[in-house]
Amino acid sequence: MADHAVHDGVDREPAVSLTQVTKEFDGGVTALRGVGFDVPKGQILALLGRSGSGKSTLLRHICCLHRPTSGSLRVLGTDVARARGHQLRRLRRRTGFVFQQFNLVGQLSVLENVCSGALGRLVGPRLGLFSYARSLRLEALDHLDRVGMADLAFQRTSTLSGGQQQRVAIARALMQHPAILLADEPVASLDPDSADTVMRLLREIARERSLTVIGSLHQVDLALGWADRVIGLRDGEVTLDAPAAALDTTTAMGVYGTEPRTEPMALDATG
Ligand SMILES: Nc1ncnc2c1ncn2[C@@H]1O[C@H](COP(=O)(O)OP(=O)(O)O)[C@@H](O)[C@H]1O
Ligand SMILES: [Mg+2]
Repeated sequence: MADHAVHDGVDREPAVSLTQVTKEFDGGVTALRGVGFDVPKGQILALLGRSGSGKSTLLRHICCLHRPTSGSLRVLGTDVARARGHQLRRLRRRTGFVFQQFNLVGQLSVLENVCSGALGRLVGPRLGLFSYARSLRLEALDHLDRVGMADLAFQRTSTLSGGQQQRVAIARALMQHPAILLADEPVASLDPDSADTVMRLLREIARERSLTVIGSLHQVDLALGWADRVIGLRDGEVTLDAPAAALDTTTAMGVYGTEPRTEPMALDATG
């Protein structure tokens, strides 16, 4: 069903479209250099690259926390550089974010953390679980159930394991009703079993809801088994862009190589 939604031609506008995006930070660091690619709706994309290669910067552009120094970026059909006020808030709400360190509030209950994901679509602050409408609490429980965490809804969040917290963070992101899910090193702090569970959930939920997912990862094998497509970054440049099925570990590991930068590797389904 998800595939049908993506390929039936009704809406061919990519979820994300970057053209020659360059980002120079104050102080002279160039974090992205002429980055250009489209992410079709419903695609699961893994970003690979060593620390400092620009993965987080790229994700922060897509959720409108940074603006390109030059080049253009369209998210869900909107030119981010021109988006203001409610348009920008809408774009941010439609872009859920999952972080390496979960960014949950430890002293709150699991359920309240999940409810807080709805804040972007509510007016005014909320204090305490019962300041959220019953319908939102039920929706939050539903999302917790989906990630296998409904049993722990009333537990203090700080008592959970890392893998459990990341599942709660996914449920919280779903409360935004996102079209795009961004995940910045979502499993870098987790043991291998928890990492597998979290990556599997991200993939299944993406397919169920026709979400576009862009996740930065350190582990090449995990990326190849998880994503539809892999983009490699080195020093802010795209050095690899290929269907995951066309890549083997050695080729994908090339983005971590120490040889001088050369032209982007042109890989397609024929390898
Ligand atoms: N807000 C910032 N101000 C200045 N430099 C930054 C900022 N954010 C990232 N950088 C720099 O940009 C480069 C890319 O960083 P980052 O996107 O965090 O890489 P990655 O996520 O791949 O580790 C690094 O050199 C980093 O130090
Ligand atoms: Mg990073």
